[in-house]
Order: sequence, then C-alpha cells, then structure tokens
Amino acid sequence: MTDTKHKPLCFSGMQPTNSLHIGNYLGALKNWVKLQDQMTCVYCVVDLHALTQESGYAQPAELTRSIREVTAAYIACGVDPTRVILFNQSQVPEHAELAWVFNCVARIGWLDRMTQFKEKSGKHKERASVGLYTYPVLMAADILLYKGTHVPVGEDQRQHLELARDIAQKFNNDFHAPNFFPQPEPVITGPGTRVMSLRDGTKKMSKSDESDFSRINLTDDADAIAQKIRKARTDPLPLPAHKDELKDRPEAENLLNIYAALADQDRDTVIAQFAGQQFSGFKQALADL
Ligand code: TYM
Repeated sequence: MTDTKHKPLCFSGMQPTNSLHIGNYLGALKNWVKLQDQMTCVYCVVDLHALTQESGYAQPAELTRSIREVTAAYIACGVDPTRVILFNQSQVPEHAELAWVFNCVARIGWLDRMTQFKEKSGKHKERASVGLYTYPVLMAADILLYKGTHVPVGEDQRQHLELARDIAQKFNNDFHAPNFFPQPEPVITGPGTRVMSLRDGTKKMSKSDESDFSRINLTDDADAIAQKIRKARTDPLPLPAHKDELKDRPEAENLLNIYAALADQDRDTVIAQFAGQQFSGFKQALADL
C-alpha cells in the first residue's frame, strides 16, 4: 500500500429496474456524457443493486431485459462505449468481494442514518432484506474498487456518497495507509439534480411510482410526453416573475427546473422568459423542447 495522489477517475451506475426517466437523465446521465471528455470514465449497470428490489429479485428474465434496455439508454443518451468503460456489475465479482470487506469497515450507526433505506423499507423495516440495508456499502465498493474520484449522481445519492467517503477514510486510517482510497467527490450540478413527480411536486420522480403519468420515461414517444406534460399538476397562478415567488409552488418550480435543465439554461433566465404567462403555453414549449 502506497500513499499516492489519485488520478481523476469518474465512476457511476444506475439500477436496471424498469425504464429510465428524465430524472435519471437530467440528474446523472447528462453529466456522465460531459465528463467523458474530461477524464477516464467507468459506467456500470448495477444489476446486483437491483436484487434489493422485488422486481429485480423475483423476475430474472425481466432483469436481463432491463440490463439491456438501460445499457441501450446510456448509449442513446451519448455515453460513448468506445471511449468509456461500460459494463455490467455482476460480471466483475470483485464488487461483491470488496463490499464484504467494507461491511466490516462500516458501522451500523452509519447505515442506520441512511434516509433512503428508511423510505424504501417503510413501516416494515424488519421485513426488508439485509441487502437493502447494506446497499450503500456495495455502492461504496463500486466506486472505490476503481479508486473513483468523481461520481456524477442526482441529489438523492448525496448521503450514500458521504458514506463512501467515511468508509474510505476509516479504511485508510485503520490500515495506516493514508490516501490508499481517494475521497470520492459527488458531482451534483445543474437545475435537474432533483426532478420531482409530475403528479406531486413534493415527491421525487421515481421508477417505482405507481402512476406512469408521474414521470417521463426515456422510451416515451413525443405524443406520450406531450400528454404527460399537459396533464402535469400545476396551480392556478400564472408563471412567476421572480424565483422568490416559487416558494410553496413545487409543481411550477419543478417544470421550470426541467425546462432549464433540458435547455442548458439557468433557472433565472427561464423564469424571465415565461414571467406572467399561463401554464398552457409554457407546457407546450416544454413539450416541444
Ligand atoms: P438509481 O438507479 O436510483 O438512479 C440512477 C441515477 O439517477 C439519479 N436520479 C435522479 N436524479 C434527479 N432526479 C430524480 N428524480 C432522480 N431519480 C434518480 C440518481 O441520483 C442516480 O444518479 N445507488 C444508485 C446506483 C449506484 C451508483 C453506484 C451510483 C450503485 N452504485 C456507484 C454511483 C456510483 C441508485 O440507486 O441510482
């Protein structure tokens, strides 16, 4: 073990469960594509993670289909397999091996703080799988196996990244190997880091939401997208003239953020462009975009 400075390396992954949606695209994939011009990138379809969900665990044929679909979506969104390393997690057994070592580094108190586990396990925590509980440890192993320094993800993964940093630090301290593992940096940038449901602006857009109208899937066609945006929940007021007026208007804020992220503009510019207009016109512009 040597003390080295770490070469920049970008690592990220997505679970192959159901279809990807524009939250996955704007929160993560768009930045994956940008980073491939800047450093070595390793992108993974994290199928072992998908086993923590009923759909991945109980339906192997469906999981295989999803792995292919997610891989195709990466490439369709601009990930270039000739320039990045693109692979399926379970093909590299070292992910699970390092996760085991990290299970012995991480503390139960750290995992008990993970909000995503609390949300996903719901009221019946004792019936959730152990895999769902230790899942952030596997995520730390994914990144640190390659000594990843940059991790482009959406806002919902920030706490898991902090855990990966804590694990790296404790491992380095415990084994007297400062800098053996880097401290991976979250890359969480732009107005699309937390895209919300189209039916409820206080809930994250999610693959597992029962209503397909809550999300725009990357596989939806233009008509489906236009219909979903037309039906997206809004409020009776016109669009605001200033960002301060977005307080308590989560649906308006979400649609403006989606527009800004898709157009590569900052949100203030988009607010100025549509100030005082009705949602109907704005929704049409958003669907066209
Ligand atoms: P997953 O599969 O839930 O989501 C994939 C990526 O999409 C982002 N994302 C969103 N961004 C903005 N708005 C949303 N509504 C939204 N929903 C999802 C997520 O933040 C993520 O970047 N644990 C990870 C997968 C993973 C991973 C890793 C990521 C496993 N190992 C190592 C990075 C590095 C997950 O479940 O993402």
